[in-house]
Amino acid sequence: MSVRDLADGGITVGQAGGEDVVLVRRGEAFFAVGANCTHYHGALSQGLVVGDTLRCPLHHACISLHSGETMRAPAFDSIPRWRVERIDDKIFVREKLPEPGRKQLRSTTDGRKPPASVVIIGGGAAALGAAEMLRREGYDGRLTMISADDWPPYDRPNLSKDFLVGAAPDDWMRLRLPEYYREQNIDLVLNSRVSALDIPAKRVHLENGETYGFEALLIATGAEPVRLKIDGATDSQIHYLRTFADARAIVSQAASAKRAAVVGASFIGLEVAASLRTLGIAVDVIAPEKQPLERVMGPEIGGMIRGLHEAHGVRFHLGETVKRIDANTLTLTSGATLEADLVVLGVGVSPSLSLAEQAGLATDRGIVVNEYLETSAAGVFAAGDVARWPDPHSGERIRVEHWVVAERQGQMAAKNILGYRERFDAVPFFWSQHYDLAINYVGHAERWDSTEIDGDLNARDCAVSYKRGGRTLAVATISRDQKSLEAEAAMEAQKG
Ligand SMILES: Cc1cc2nc3c(=O)[nH]c(=O)nc-3n(C[C@H](O)[C@H](O)[C@H](O)COP(=O)(O)OP(=O)(O)OC[C@H]3O[C@@H](n4cnc5c(N)ncnc54)[C@H](O)[C@@H]3O)c2cc1C
Ligand code: FES
Repeated sequence: MSVRDLADGGITVGQAGGEDVVLVRRGEAFFAVGANCTHYHGALSQGLVVGDTLRCPLHHACISLHSGETMRAPAFDSIPRWRVERIDDKIFVREKLPEPGRKQLRSTTDGRKPPASVVIIGGGAAALGAAEMLRREGYDGRLTMISADDWPPYDRPNLSKDFLVGAAPDDWMRLRLPEYYREQNIDLVLNSRVSALDIPAKRVHLENGETYGFEALLIATGAEPVRLKIDGATDSQIHYLRTFADARAIVSQAASAKRAAVVGASFIGLEVAASLRTLGIAVDVIAPEKQPLERVMGPEIGGMIRGLHEAHGVRFHLGETVKRIDANTLTLTSGATLEADLVVLGVGVSPSLSLAEQAGLATDRGIVVNEYLETSAAGVFAAGDVARWPDPHSGERIRVEHWVVAERQGQMAAKNILGYRERFDAVPFFWSQHYDLAINYVGHAERWDSTEIDGDLNARDCAVSYKRGGRTLAVATISRDQKSLEAEAAMEAQKG
């Protein structure tokens, strides 16, 4: 193709050797890379070029145009590259390039050696992000992941989405195949709960009596559902959704359920409601707020999401909570009653802090970490839902519950375990899926004084900006993936 046919920052799709390729222009440089993201096959032709990276439109993976490496999750695997040749004003995509070889550990500014052993507590997003990055960076020391889960790291966000509706079999839920852990020499210890940390002795103690020594430690224990005590209800009557086992239990009961009650209009509660409706189960949502998702997304998106669920037959009981449960009958605070043979509680989570508290680490509604994700103890890092970090974009210390943030923090903690001293400064990002509607959200706005809607909320094609003092803190988009990427890039450029 001619050089003039592709503007700076432009992306075009084609084929090379029978494979789909995108050709990208960055100034006078041209790059040919695979056309699909290795996370969920996002079409990179719809992505955004930011500096020397290509961003995936679906969940914002960040891919190096030079090496094809996914520099930031949620994709982990590299995409292929092709050699590009320019002859006069014509661009030719030539042969496929070999995958880059294994990296060598970088030398650190302070000349420190990498730790002889790393223990990661947790088997979720942050934990796998860290383990994968340690090995990718060339770390070959002892690496142990200890997880209370009974499954190797899996796609937790999918538990309330495709998995619940039966569209994702068990095998698709794994983030990595079992052989990956063997090949990468990652000692994955499942079904094992760490009960105590002895930081001075550099040792973790498990409930089963085993102990593991470490030179560097990552705490990636995530969060656990807030449990409500409801009069009359037995524990077995109420479902929570955090783990694969929780999801399997809901799927099993949903198989015979006719009516479900979802308590809480959180993202997870509403995603569960959408999935249960998709299965043809009648759904009542009971929540104390006036509008679902209002606290995070404001009344406009809250109202639209409520309308979407109502159009799918969900009945809302807002400004209410459940007072008692007797067999299949729920009594609400207003005295109204409703029937349900499946009850799911989605009333939020709290960070799993007990180990950190017991070990005397600084905590403040999360484990306090610095910009390198290091806790108050040297060599002990924390990442994911459990960590509260100084976010350079909002200027606040924040803790979020976002999949991509947890993975990226795990990745950055890994680099800092290796002594690279890189700041965690990624813009927070999350997505949520309700029926066929996806909401993307970049930035972080706990409080805002104005919102600006670009587009048409009712047509489900819009970007909502959350502002304080005229500054955009966060942007939520529906059907505007490019806008979401642009907002993220603008926030990245603003930081500092
Ligand atoms: C159903 C559901 C849907 C979601 N959907 C989305 C979504 O669409 N988009 C989005 O951005 N986010 C979503 N999230 C949130 C996202 O999954 C979390 O932000 C993310 O999993 C946090 O990762 P983490 O590694 O910090 O914690 P987790 O993934 O929770 O992992 C914590 C790990 O620590 C282990 N652990 C805890 N304590 C111990 C201990 N003492 N000893 C050993 N192991 C321990 C646990 O077993 C687990 O393996 C969803 C969450 C759920 C539950
Ligand atoms: S499909 Fe690319 S980040 Fe999810």
